[in-house]
Amino acid sequence: MSAARVFVKLGGSFITDKSVRGSLNGARIAAAANAIRKALDRSARSGRRIQLVLGHGAGSYGHILAKRYGAVAGKHPEHGWRALYEIRESMAEMNLLFLRHCNKGGLFPVTVSPFAVAEAKGGSVRRLDIHNIQALLEQGQIPVLHGDVVLDSERGFTIASTEALLEALSRRLPFDRVVMVSDTDGVLDHEGRTIPRIDRDGLRRLAGVLGGSGAPDVTGGMRKKVEKLLSFVRHGRAGSARILRCSPGGRNLTEAVLGTGGGGTLFG
Ligand SMILES: Nc1ncnc2c1ncn2[C@@H]1O[C@H](COP(=O)(O)OP(=O)(O)OP(=O)(O)O)[C@@H](O)[C@H]1O
Ligand SMILES: [Mg+2]
Repeated sequence: MSAARVFVKLGGSFITDKSVRGSLNGARIAAAANAIRKALDRSARSGRRIQLVLGHGAGSYGHILAKRYGAVAGKHPEHGWRALYEIRESMAEMNLLFLRHCNKGGLFPVTVSPFAVAEAKGGSVRRLDIHNIQALLEQGQIPVLHGDVVLDSERGFTIASTEALLEALSRRLPFDRVVMVSDTDGVLDHEGRTIPRIDRDGLRRLAGVLGGSGAPDVTGGMRKKVEKLLSFVRHGRAGSARILRCSPGGRNLTEAVLGTGGGGTLFG
């Protein structure tokens, strides 16, 4: 059976209220998981298996603490390694809850903890051990990555966003499709309307439209996400990429995973 490799990230903005600590929206995770489940089943029935890597953002479980301790810069003159302890614990808690809600939606993914398999240097992810991710995919399983605190050979530790981990992963494991679920239906223009398509040279025309995040955020918000997605497409690490907001019935997410549509903003 032929296979398509797909990466789906459920953004922290979609699954938490980023300004309220510990605010996980379990119903949204379960609904998105169910939409993904439908896509996997539908694709398998038509003779095309989907190899899925799932990701989730840190949302209010990561960004608030990371901001408080200046965790991107690593070891703190006053707080030392405290950010590492607290963010690691918070992400472990979030990830466990995330898995349980996925299970309710009929999806049984398995976490490959970024802290254990990634290392950064000067704030950039430089090493990612993809062995277990590949082994899970080969067995038809769904590995999960998430935004995390990771060791940094210069700073002690730093923050790696899901997008930064995907960048490292897709260098060796390119994806046919990348789908990012956000709290906005894609990239919005000045009037709040969804920009349906951003092509390879599209970034220049987005000047003034793209911001960071409206909420506490340490990894660059929407601007960084768009830059990375365009770069993935340009360098052939993603056949296409899409940012959308999962609709209540999840139909647009199912379509995006299948590659048959989905709305929001398409890159490439
Ligand atoms: N032009 C734009 N269109 C849409 N959102 C924008 C735009 N400019 C800035 N934003 C902000 O970007 C946010 C999404 O990025 P953000 O990093 O906060 O979400 P996320 O990646 O889902 O969360 P996490 O980093 O926790 O995974 C939106 O909630 C919005 O506040
Ligand atoms: Mg983000």
